[in-house]
Amino acid sequence: MNSAMNAVVLLLSIFVSSEAAVTWRDCVPPTTAHPYVTFTSVSVSPSPVVIPGNITIGVRGSVHHNFGKDVRMVVHMDKYLLGVWTKVPCNSNVGSCNYDNPCEFLSAFATSGTCPPQLEAHGLPCTCPFNPSDINLPPSVFEVKTINAAWSWLATGKFRVQAEMIHGHDIVGCFHVEMDIKRTGGHGFIFG
Ligand SMILES: *[C@@H]1O[C@H](CO)[C@@H](O)[C@H](O)[C@H]1NC(C)=O
Repeated sequence: MNSAMNAVVLLLSIFVSSEAAVTWRDCVPPTTAHPYVTFTSVSVSPSPVVIPGNITIGVRGSVHHNFGKDVRMVVHMDKYLLGVWTKVPCNSNVGSCNYDNPCEFLSAFATSGTCPPQLEAHGLPCTCPFNPSDINLPPSVFEVKTINAAWSWLATGKFRVQAEMIHGHDIVGCFHVEMDIKRTGGHGFIFG
């Protein structure tokens, strides 16, 4: 699995979960008259998510408005450390990152010419532009085989993530989740 794919699966698995002890919500502010993307149900298992490992992700929602290079993304990620939410800095596209052009991030899929088969099987696009459509990804297995050395901070623990899609000054899509991650392998793990 390439690095972009790993990053996307990690982000997805951090963003989404409906398991007990894990909470998620759509956080588009009520002041946004016309959201571009909304989520109605999301699931991930196992809980805690084990990395590396197989992660099962299901997503239902809607794209209401076409978007592409006109949106940017802001991700806030915190880890619960010694009783305090502590900001996780951006490192190799994971953490509290600003993606000025998220389309560029997804362009790795365009370059390789393929979407992840789990998405393709359900007619879901993985590159920009995205057009109005229903998002219906039944629970599907994604395998995270290796972790980039730059993501070594992604150790066992409780994480809180908010991902905001921004157009102009409006938050047109927003996802918030708190979840636990368990990393196996310890020092014997070979980083990819
Ligand atoms: C994921 O599941 C497949 C099929 O059961 C298995 O071969 C593979 O080893 C699993 N991957 C990990 C990282 O556990």
